[in-house]
Amino acid sequence: MLALIVAVDDNFLIGNGNNLPWYEPNDLKYFKKITLNKAVLMGYNTYLSIIARLGKVLPNRINYVLTEEKSLPKGGIIVDDLDKLILEYQNKELFVIGGKMVYEALLPRVDKLYLTRVKGSHVGNVYFPKIAFDEFMLISSEKQDNLTFEIYERITKR
Ligand SMILES: NC(=O)c1ccc[n+]([C@@H]2O[C@H](COP(=O)([O-])OP(=O)(O)OC[C@H]3O[C@@H](n4cnc5c(N)ncnc54)[C@H](OP(=O)(O)O)[C@@H]3O)[C@@H](O)[C@H]2O)c1
Repeated sequence: MLALIVAVDDNFLIGNGNNLPWYEPNDLKYFKKITLNKAVLMGYNTYLSIIARLGKVLPNRINYVLTEEKSLPKGGIIVDDLDKLILEYQNKELFVIGGKMVYEALLPRVDKLYLTRVKGSHVGNVYFPKIAFDEFMLISSEKQDNLTFEIYERITKR
């Protein structure tokens, strides 16, 4: 099953250059809790920013990367056939973790959406695509200071 996890501000801002527009340790903790021991799928730029930040892939997760590159530093797994990968994960979660290009490509196909709302308007230049909220149902919402962790499930067929 394809899931997507993203943090957005009031304007659906998600990035500032190749970085997050904010430092929100509680969102990072939530991201870890949700994705730990699962498979994550990301674009090349997001992969490079993780390697720059951690010096390694996201630990205790299978790190799949969409790229035209032929090899990757630090052991990310290059996806040859995206449709085949999504089929392999029919009965377990595969988390789309960004960035913008990958979110745009896969939002129409996701079954579940983990949307963290970061209160306020931040500085940045990268935005999340428009979400068709009428295609999703909010199944949980948890507020923690300036963050709200929402989970949606798709209700309409793709
Ligand atoms: N707020 C959040 O939760 C969050 C989470 C993650 C990222 N972000 C933000 O998102 C921004 C980065 O987004 P981005 O669009 O620049 O980067 P991205 O989606 O991580 O990477 C884009 C690259 O991935 C490769 N790619 C994407 N789709 C592909 C496909 N279908 N097949 C093959 N390769 C594909 C291409 O690289 P090649 O040229 O190698 O083919 C493409 O240039 C940053 O600002 C970051 O901070 C925010």
